[in-house]
Amino acid sequence: MRLNSLCVKDPKDPRTTAPHQLPIYATSSFQFDTVEEGMEIFKDPSKAHLYARFSNPTIDAVADKIAQLEAYNTDVEDAWGVMTSSGMSAISTLLFACLKKGDKILSQGNLYGGTTELIKNFMPQYGIEVVWVDLREEDQVIEALEKDPKIKMVYFETPSNPALDCIDLSAISTIAKRYKVSTAVDNTFCTPVIQRPFGHGIDYVIHSTTKYLNGHGNGISGVIIGQGEENRKKVWSAMKLVGSNCNAWDAWLTNTGMKTLNLRMQRHSENALALAQFLEGHNRIEKVNYIGLKSHHDYDIAQKQMNLTGGMLCFEVKGGVKGGLKFMDGQRMGSMAPTMGDVDTLIMHPASMSHLNVDREIRISHGITDGLIRVSVGIEDINDLIEDFDRALG
Ligand SMILES: Cc1ncc(COP(=O)(O)O)c(C=O)c1O
Repeated sequence: MRLNSLCVKDPKDPRTTAPHQLPIYATSSFQFDTVEEGMEIFKDPSKAHLYARFSNPTIDAVADKIAQLEAYNTDVEDAWGVMTSSGMSAISTLLFACLKKGDKILSQGNLYGGTTELIKNFMPQYGIEVVWVDLREEDQVIEALEKDPKIKMVYFETPSNPALDCIDLSAISTIAKRYKVSTAVDNTFCTPVIQRPFGHGIDYVIHSTTKYLNGHGNGISGVIIGQGEENRKKVWSAMKLVGSNCNAWDAWLTNTGMKTLNLRMQRHSENALALAQFLEGHNRIEKVNYIGLKSHHDYDIAQKQMNLTGGMLCFEVKGGVKGGLKFMDGQRMGSMAPTMGDVDTLIMHPASMSHLNVDREIRISHGITDGLIRVSVGIEDINDLIEDFDRALG
């Protein structure tokens, strides 16, 4: 080959030892040795890699690892994972894959804001409507499904963001199966370390892997986990056609983060419980909302289906919005950033940030009061956190 060709061609490494760490396949396509091989792979893309929007070894390995974690210790043997470009794209891809014009979603009113906006304002443009009920009330769920055969999916979060309401996974899946309706759960808050919805009969799980699975706040990605080859093809096709595929770099970062997932979730939970107990006894605090406290309104459901109580907590400082903001500006340990699930503590004031544009009455009806502060408790030394919060509360 001449100089110009040498510049263009990819170098080949003749050594064969396998890399110890998952490689990042930074390639948009995969090449065939013969025309015949190319034809075979085009006929059945599950046989090999073809084009990176369809599949990529880095992304597929990480998706498969998350699927194994979600299926761990359950009866599910045919779990699969499809990684996507974000948590939101995992949700929208799943909805596009499973629902068609005229179908309806049954859901709760206190989902993550982006999900609420998607199913309330965006999906109806494509003929997919949502019916809201309180999913903690089984009678309401049965009544809605009985009344409306167009409902084809129950979609929910447990615990919810940020009110931390818990929904009984087994109860919902049992009712949904009776009406032949599929179920999908956003397990971002828990991760499979804390809660595995498949063990309770749920059909699909989604994650914003941006959060705890990555754990270090350095990537945006999502994943859909499901069961059975037919469902995999349906979801994979939607991902491929909508173009909501993950990129190899963010999948790789997720994999690196997941190596410490079990350790991190334990420390997040321990720190959050210690901080919640400290806050509960503080005279400047109106109320603390943490799943690990016996005072939590859904403590019993959480104990039934969660292995640990997680790193998310909310509390209300006395003095409404003014009191909340004063505390936020005074504390030093929590980074004021609109995300969660990172190794460091993150703090947010929903009334003036994430829910600023939500009608006050609606916000309050979902437990997001004026002075409420949401903390994603990190894995720092708990004494530093408690001392800092104590000083900022004054
Ligand atoms: C519970 C939950 N689900 C989904 C999402 C959306 O994830 P992403 O930002 O990765 O699209 C978020 C984002 O904060 C979330 O908190």
